[in-house]
Amino acid sequence: MAADNHEMMRQISAGIEEIPPMPQVVMKAQQLLADPDSSAKELAALLEKDPSIAAKVLKMANSAFYGLRGNVNSIQHAAMVLGYRNLGEIISVAGVQQSLEKKLPGYGLDSEDLWRHSLSVAMGSKIIASRKNPELEMVAHTAGLIHDVGKLILDPFVLDEKETFEAFIVSEQQTFLAAEQEILGFDHAEIAAEVCKKWSIPMVISSAIQYHHSPSSSSEVELAFILHLADYISLVTGAGYESDDYLYELEEGTLDYLQLDDSDVSDLSLELMESVANLLDSSN
Ligand SMILES: [Fe+2]
Ligand SMILES: [Fe+2]
Repeated sequence: MAADNHEMMRQISAGIEEIPPMPQVVMKAQQLLADPDSSAKELAALLEKDPSIAAKVLKMANSAFYGLRGNVNSIQHAAMVLGYRNLGEIISVAGVQQSLEKKLPGYGLDSEDLWRHSLSVAMGSKIIASRKNPELEMVAHTAGLIHDVGKLILDPFVLDEKETFEAFIVSEQQTFLAAEQEILGFDHAEIAAEVCKKWSIPMVISSAIQYHHSPSSSSEVELAFILHLADYISLVTGAGYESDDYLYELEEGTLDYLQLDDSDVSDLSLELMESVANLLDSSN
């Protein structure tokens, strides 16, 4: 245990306060996208308020991943051609990229590592949701995108205790996650749930994020299981990022709950690897 837990909690709360807010434009765009009466015109007017996100959205809309290859020249046009769902997805990705492209020395991650993993889990969650419960596709994508945001907050504390972490992981053959719980007294999933509160993220998403390593404990069971499986598939397909990835296991009952078998997992893994490769091309 860290020497002064109370002081650490205070600093962590301060860290949560300091994390940049999810851009207003992204939150408002999600609301508009969920409103059947909203129009592409309203969405375009909203995005014009944040030119850097609007530019990124247009760039992604024109990438090979969305198949439009340079023919889209306005947000309104993008909404028409891509459809609301795809546009919503692009807006989320554009809105959080800056926050998630950070170097995390405590976890030993380069600036692209967390970002690539987050995109992979977003895409994986969406793919699984599209098979199991298409109504969850949009929330699954958003949840996947920000599921590990707690690592941004915990990184300085992990760095302070780096030697203790390494010793624990090696001697106990345990995961980084178990080390967080043992050494800090809580893990990055719990902290992510706090960040979600600050960002006013809907309960269904924050609860799934809180339990993305232990979905059977969640009240939003289905989305938590989807997120957990997407996280696992991302790690086994090489979009993980930690030296202990090989120790990470699916919680027992995950595949049964989702009514999937090993061959489904192989199919999902292949589909995910292909999507992530294309998506990374288009978001850079
Ligand atoms: Fe995680
Ligand atoms: Fe993860």
